[in-house]
Amino acid sequence: MAGHTPAVVGETKAAFTQFFSVSVREREGEISMIVTTKDLFNHAYGKYAVGAYNINNLEQTVGLFRGNLGLKNSNDEKIDTKKSAPFIIQLSRGARGFTDKRFLEAMIRAAEEVFPDAIFAVHLDHGTEEVCCDCIDSGFYSSVMIDASHDPFDKNIETTRRVVERAHDKGISVEAELGMLGGVEEDISVSADHACLTDPDQAVEFVERSGCDSLAVAIGTSHGAYKFSGSQGLHFDRIEAIQKVLPGFPMVMHGSSSVPKNWVERINKAGGKLGAASGVSEDQYLPAAKLGVTKVNIDTDGRLVWCGIYRETFRDKPDDFDPRTPGKPFMAAYAEYITGKNQKLGSAGQLESLRASLGAAV
Ligand code: G3H
Ligand code: 13P
Ligand code: ZN
Repeated sequence: MAGHTPAVVGETKAAFTQFFSVSVREREGEISMIVTTKDLFNHAYGKYAVGAYNINNLEQTVGLFRGNLGLKNSNDEKIDTKKSAPFIIQLSRGARGFTDKRFLEAMIRAAEEVFPDAIFAVHLDHGTEEVCCDCIDSGFYSSVMIDASHDPFDKNIETTRRVVERAHDKGISVEAELGMLGGVEEDISVSADHACLTDPDQAVEFVERSGCDSLAVAIGTSHGAYKFSGSQGLHFDRIEAIQKVLPGFPMVMHGSSSVPKNWVERINKAGGKLGAASGVSEDQYLPAAKLGVTKVNIDTDGRLVWCGIYRETFRDKPDDFDPRTPGKPFMAAYAEYITGKNQKLGSAGQLESLRASLGAAV
């Protein structure tokens, strides 16, 4: 289904605002396909997980949009509705400081125009209260994550509550975190490991008292490329227990990269030195989604694709120094990777159904 182009935005504004009035946010009289995170969750809950992908630069942004529309080599390919998916683009504090937060916003605004069919949300990943406030006040973000999980329970609730009040005033939703993501190393005993997982009873109290809209839960994953040793995986018993006491409430899984073996091997063959890297089995995404894990955070995998392509390119072309030489195959490889990931999340092929449901909500 057609989206909009900047040229027709003015003419068709009335029709679009009628069609999408619940979800599409208007910006200076233009239609934006940046929707609320809540809209994405409502459509996905219990059926599939929405991929939440971290970006830092332009090539990642272009690859991400292409991949979510089922395109690969060029922005002008026809969108593939069997592959196209709603998604969340997430920006960490590190990403906001890497160049300048304004570049990120400008890139995403440009991507909206270049890829008018995309429907997505913009999210702050792992925010402090201060950065959450900045994002809320900017009016650009669909949602923010306040990460006060390192604080004691009551302090985590108080901080989250303050962010929720400020965010909800502006129609922005809030992800909070309870429990500690940690390494799941073999030398940590099972009980110590379980002590880090989110406690279901605490989760109910946390959600009620903080008013948050989604909850990042510790269910066995950890950030980065070295998640598990041996055959550990997600704690489905914990996911199930949380869903039982918080039915219908979206859970968020951090540390969800699958750390694909083929990319680790390609990196190492091209001069890298990654050790015993391992990630979440992609076959676990959909069973987790069916139990209420509605947002799945992926950053590390995108970094691996980036690293592999750049290393291989300059290994194979040692006399080349053009940023476009690795940049072009990276965008294609990252797009292909995202399309494949969305198939595992179950979000591939959901874009047109979401578009229709946003329209039907009017
Ligand atoms: O959860 C953390 C994300 O992977 C962001 O990482 O802070 O290095 O950008 P970063
Ligand atoms: P990974 O390190 O597994 O990609 O997790 C990313 C994440 O949780 C971002 O918030
Ligand atoms: Zn995270």
